[in-house]
Amino acid sequence: MQQTSPAGNERYRRFIEQIDNLPALPAIVTRLMQVVNSPDTSADDAAKLIQKDPALTTKMLRLANSAFYGIPRSISSVSSAVVILGFNTIRSLVLSASVMKMFSSSHQPAIDKNRFWKHSIVCAIAAKAIVRQFINVRMMDPESAFCAGILHDIGKLIFSEFAQEDYFEVCEFAKECNVPLIEAEKKILGISHADIGRILADKWALPLDLEYSLVFHHEPMKADSLIDLVTTVHMANVLSHRIGTGLWENEPMPPEWDQARSILRMGEADFERILLALKESIDKSEEFFDIIK
Ligand SMILES: [Fe+2]
Ligand SMILES: [Fe+2]
Repeated sequence: MQQTSPAGNERYRRFIEQIDNLPALPAIVTRLMQVVNSPDTSADDAAKLIQKDPALTTKMLRLANSAFYGIPRSISSVSSAVVILGFNTIRSLVLSASVMKMFSSSHQPAIDKNRFWKHSIVCAIAAKAIVRQFINVRMMDPESAFCAGILHDIGKLIFSEFAQEDYFEVCEFAKECNVPLIEAEKKILGISHADIGRILADKWALPLDLEYSLVFHHEPMKADSLIDLVTTVHMANVLSHRIGTGLWENEPMPPEWDQARSILRMGEADFERILLALKESIDKSEEFFDIIK
């Protein structure tokens, strides 16, 4: 993939040095990602792995029994939860829970983390809804889009944790000049949260669908063969901003790519309908956050 980060920018270099100290993903998460990506894996293999981590086991069972998934009968074993929720849901749950835990301790983050996660979860819900309504689900698992949605802006969290002062300045600039955060990042730091997404995807060996969603959700036209998925995440991000789940009140939303709706075959009426449905799922996003945080 092409590097877009401007080498030679002093702040950028400093920041990359710091990011090198970023914690690795917990071994169980890395292992689980390999397991769920392997065609030979059974639900029992994944369940055995999850059960090694009591906190994860609890979260998984709570989620499987929550209104979020709305499964009518009670699920008491991890292997049933894996069968019912599916491998990609497990991937969403495990990755997002680990990332939340990894970044839960900072004293003075530059961004409001509750708002950050709310934006991300609403984006994930929107991405799943878009796949169900506008893309053939045999071509794309809605849960893959959910996972991509939840992690799409993770670079902002890395900035907020590892470059707090710089990122405060970025947020202030965006607020004062009323510009999208990604523009302020490029202007002040010479690097955006999408660039950080690329570094993170490398460091954590994330699968390509997640990597492309992190890197290209503001410019899906560059996503080659994954253009449908990345356009889905792009549009889900637009929707999440439109219903007001930005990082602050009236955060300017980044521009929508002109061709996004035609790629998804989403008319104006469809857009409004999905927006309305999304407003009703805000409570669901809170339930998901409560369970995995
Ligand atoms: Fe973004
Ligand atoms: Fe976003």
